[in-house]
Amino acid sequence: MLTATAEALSNIAFIKYWGNRDQALRLPSNPSLSMNLAGLKTVTTVTFNPEFKEDRLTLNGVVATGAALERVSRHLDLIRERAGIALPAQVESGNTFPSGAGIASSASGFAALTVAAASAAGLNLEPNELSALARRGSGSASRSIPGGFTEWQLGRAADGSDSYAFSIAPPTHWDLTDVIAVISAAHKATGSTEGHGIADTSPFQRARVAGAHDRLSACRTALLARDFERFATVVEEDAIAMHAVMMTSRPALLYWEPLTIAILQALPTWRAEGLPVCFTIDAGPNVHCLTPSAHAAEVERRLRALGVPTVLTAPPGPAASVVADR
Ligand code: PMV
Repeated sequence: MLTATAEALSNIAFIKYWGNRDQALRLPSNPSLSMNLAGLKTVTTVTFNPEFKEDRLTLNGVVATGAALERVSRHLDLIRERAGIALPAQVESGNTFPSGAGIASSASGFAALTVAAASAAGLNLEPNELSALARRGSGSASRSIPGGFTEWQLGRAADGSDSYAFSIAPPTHWDLTDVIAVISAAHKATGSTEGHGIADTSPFQRARVAGAHDRLSACRTALLARDFERFATVVEEDAIAMHAVMMTSRPALLYWEPLTIAILQALPTWRAEGLPVCFTIDAGPNVHCLTPSAHAAEVERRLRALGVPTVLTAPPGPAASVVADR
């Protein structure tokens, strides 16, 4: 029996990935940059067994079928093909963060699945290869393979083998904390795979992509220098640019809710009062408030005072890894 367990963290992008130049291979239209979120973890065990008739999947203890199982099976096919095996698998996956809290689990999920399946299949892959492979399951999963602060480069190869993420700084580099205002746990009406597919229908996507390279290098420079003010400006600019594209694609994607906007309006005031905090938002209504850890409790207090029901806090976290035999 070929079995392995792996764990991987979710991540929050400072420079966003939105839109693909190759939808099937998940080759992005622009490079992106993110931070792994300690504590927001997926743990996945993959077991290949000739006695199984077909792939099976459980998510947080519940048997999954349909589209979720199909997506996992297609991803396992890539690994089986590479390892030269044709065995069905049992996949058991669980998140340490509340499921349905609107925290994307595809990044940590496909990163953990890739590392566990590759190890169970006996493949000995470099981190770059694991990252490029995780990318095929969910683009942002490529950034959850390396540790700390990571950059996902575009790559040039037609097969996508050099479109992977690498670490630009370890978790200890900067004690930034993601204070997440969880506004709605409702399931997204339009998932990101579909969203990437329609990004080019927005007249603003071309401009967003053209500016992404400069924003990424400004963000990288600010991050490496721990320059919060410059970091805040470019991170907010980039998030707004992505949501402008979402809102102007066909069909239009509007992820914000009233409380999302209330926080966006409050943040500049807090900053003017001397609280170093900035926002970014993924494909949902939750607001990720980034702040040096010394200010995380104050940011959380203010978010709750605005009426935010749930707040999660995550500092930078390590790379995905195989969990030693238990
Ligand atoms: O990996 P996906 O296909 O779920 O795309 C993630 C897209 C965003 O979260 C909105 C942005 C990002 O770079 O993580």
